[in-house]
Amino acid sequence: MYPFTFHNPTRILFGQGRIAELANEIPAGQKVLLTYGQGSIKKNGIFDQVAAALDGYEWSTFGGIEPNPTYETLMKAVEKIRLEKFDFLLAVGGGSVIDGTKFIAAAVNFAGDPWDILTKRAPITTALPFGSVLTLPATGSEMNNGSVITHKATQTKLPFMHPLVFPKFSILDPTTTFSLPAGQVANGVVDAFVHTVEQYLTYPVDAKVQDRFAEGLLLTLIEDGPQALSDPENEAVRANMMWSATLALNGLIGAGVPQDWATHMIGHEITALYGLDHAQTLAIVLPSVLQSQKEQKKEKLLQYAERVWGISTGSEDTRIDKAIRKTREFFEQMGIKTRLSDYGLDATIVPKLVDQLEQHGMIKLGERRTVTLEVSRQILEMSV
Ligand code: NZQ
Ligand code: ZN
Repeated sequence: MYPFTFHNPTRILFGQGRIAELANEIPAGQKVLLTYGQGSIKKNGIFDQVAAALDGYEWSTFGGIEPNPTYETLMKAVEKIRLEKFDFLLAVGGGSVIDGTKFIAAAVNFAGDPWDILTKRAPITTALPFGSVLTLPATGSEMNNGSVITHKATQTKLPFMHPLVFPKFSILDPTTTFSLPAGQVANGVVDAFVHTVEQYLTYPVDAKVQDRFAEGLLLTLIEDGPQALSDPENEAVRANMMWSATLALNGLIGAGVPQDWATHMIGHEITALYGLDHAQTLAIVLPSVLQSQKEQKKEKLLQYAERVWGISTGSEDTRIDKAIRKTREFFEQMGIKTRLSDYGLDATIVPKLVDQLEQHGMIKLGERRTVTLEVSRQILEMSV
């Protein structure tokens, strides 16, 4: 196991009815800006629950944050905050709203163009405090310090991370997810699955706890993911999905182990250019990454085959191929297609995507930095 520092300051309030406790989490007297997406919270009653819990605070709203939140929209919130002087942000929604709120929090007091935070890793020295009410288990944004923002004008989607943008608290009420459309439930399961895989399917460093923990998350997602689709109001199933997604990317399973992230970085380019959902891109790219990096990932792929899919007979090659096939079948079972061609895209897009990767410095990806632009090109060609 590699040396690591692990610190996660986000307080989690998990369970049905916890939104009512908001006032215990936001200091009295703070002027609060509630940020949200494109209106789902107004239809499913979550907005009303939050509004009731904010009784006694001075508060206002900023809506319209889109899936794959854009710099252009978020800067409007920044202007509003600078003008009206809010002290605390409350993100109510999925990963996009929470990621967007992290950017807003960091941008408000940033001197210069806040887009530099993404392109130039410009240092952030202050951020507004914020909390979240999660409505879509997927990204882990509710308990991490990462955020992914899109610049619409340049079709650029880039991540940033900073210790100042951990949420102060996140409320995870599994019943808020009952209203999710099936496609978003599936997206969430696939995203959490791929987060786990990107920190687990690398090479062994004798990190038994992280490995067993990751395998537990994968098995839970495989068992309960399909049930979340077939039995959508099953609170126990939703609770398992919600907590798995949070734990998949809150730093715990990634501490002290090598990490991959090639699938995510390639996937971000597909979303930026062609608008596919984040999880759709992962379902397309991951099987090809595993196939392409079979040698580099051999030991962990064999472990994954045995412990997650129960595959223990046959040659090493056969076991690995079967595990990759099972992974693809699982995504398809969740209703997420796994080929670029399923989304009307063909091999002609590959050079454009490789160009984008180059422009964004994504030229040596993967845990061993073996995913060069040439390898990414092959991975994309295999994904058609
Ligand atoms: O905008 P509203 O109206 O709220 O509707 C949303 C949106 O259309 C809807 N939705 C959310 N909760 C709902 C609901 N509909 C009904 N009932 C509910 N309870 O679902 C749609 C998708 O929402 P979005 O927030 O975009 O999805 P997700 O949580 O999957 O977030 C995706 C974004 O997170 C980034 C992705 O790149 C993408 O931009 N990621 C963030 C990460 C992080 N911060 O660590 C890591 C991830 O790998 C990922 O890159
Ligand atoms: Zn993801």
